[in-house]
Amino acid sequence: MRACTLMEKRKKGRGRSSPALVLLALTLLGGTAIAQELKQIALPAPQTHGGKPLMEVLSLRATDRAFAADELSAQTLSNPLWAAWGINRPKGALRTAPSAMDWQEIDVYVVMSSGAYIYDALTITLKPVAAGDYRALTGVQDFVKDAPVSLVYVADAARMKVNISDTTMKAAMALKESCKWADSAVISENAYLYAASEGLATGVRALIHRPALSRLLKLNPEQSITLAQCVGFPKK
Ligand SMILES: Cc1cc2nc3c(=O)[nH]c(=O)nc-3n(C[C@H](O)[C@H](O)[C@H](O)COP(=O)(O)O)c2cc1C
Repeated sequence: MRACTLMEKRKKGRGRSSPALVLLALTLLGGTAIAQELKQIALPAPQTHGGKPLMEVLSLRATDRAFAADELSAQTLSNPLWAAWGINRPKGALRTAPSAMDWQEIDVYVVMSSGAYIYDALTITLKPVAAGDYRALTGVQDFVKDAPVSLVYVADAARMKVNISDTTMKAAMALKESCKWADSAVISENAYLYAASEGLATGVRALIHRPALSRLLKLNPEQSITLAQCVGFPKK
C-alpha cells in the first residue's frame, strides 16, 4: 500500500465537465456496456486493524477535489469498502455503518477504468455490472474522471419495508426517502474516515449525471442513486 502522509489542504476546484464529454459518455452508453466482458474481482480480505487514532482521523477528515492518476491496489480498494459498508459482525451480517431498521438498503457500486461493479460485502467480491470507463458519469465536475475509483451509493426501496398499518402511505414514503439519504451519509463518512487515516483522497458528491448513470448501472424503478464518492490518492 502507498505510504501514508499528512496531506496539505487540497485546492478546491469546482469545474464542471463539458457537455461534449457528457455527450460522448452518453453515446458510448448506447451499446458497449456489456457486463459479460468484465470478470468478477475477488478482493483480498480487508485489513481491519491499525490506522490512526480516531481523534487524529477526525482532525484530518476533509473533502478532496484533486486526484492523482495512480490506480488503487486491490487491498487499498478492499479496505475502504469494508470501512464504508463491510460486514463487521458476521453473525447477523451486520455492517460497519448503521442503517434505519437495519434495512441495509444501500448498495455500493464501484466505478473504475475497467468498468462498473457492485460490491458484495458477504463474499468480498466486485460483481460486474458494465464494462468500460464511465467514471465521468459519476459526477458533473471535471475532477471526477481523474479519480481511480468512484463509489456510487444506490438505495433499493424494495428492501425498506414499512408496516402501513402503523403509519400512512405518505409518512412511509417520507420516512424511506429521508432514511436512504441518512444511511448513505453514514456510509460515506466511514469512507472519509478511512481515507483520512490512510492518507487517501476522497470527496462525496450529490452532483451526479443521475439518469445516464442509472441506465449504466441497470437500476430498476425501486432503486435510486443517492451520493457518489471519489477515492484515490491526492494529486501532488
Ligand atoms: C450530501 C453532500 C453532498 C455533496 N455534494 C458535493 C458535490 O456534488 N460536489 C462537491 O465538490 N462537493 C460536494 N460535497 C462536499 C462538500 O462541499 C464539503 O463537505 C464541504 O464543502 C465542506 O468541506 P469538507 O468536507 O472538506 O469539510 C457534498 C457534501 C455532502 C455532505
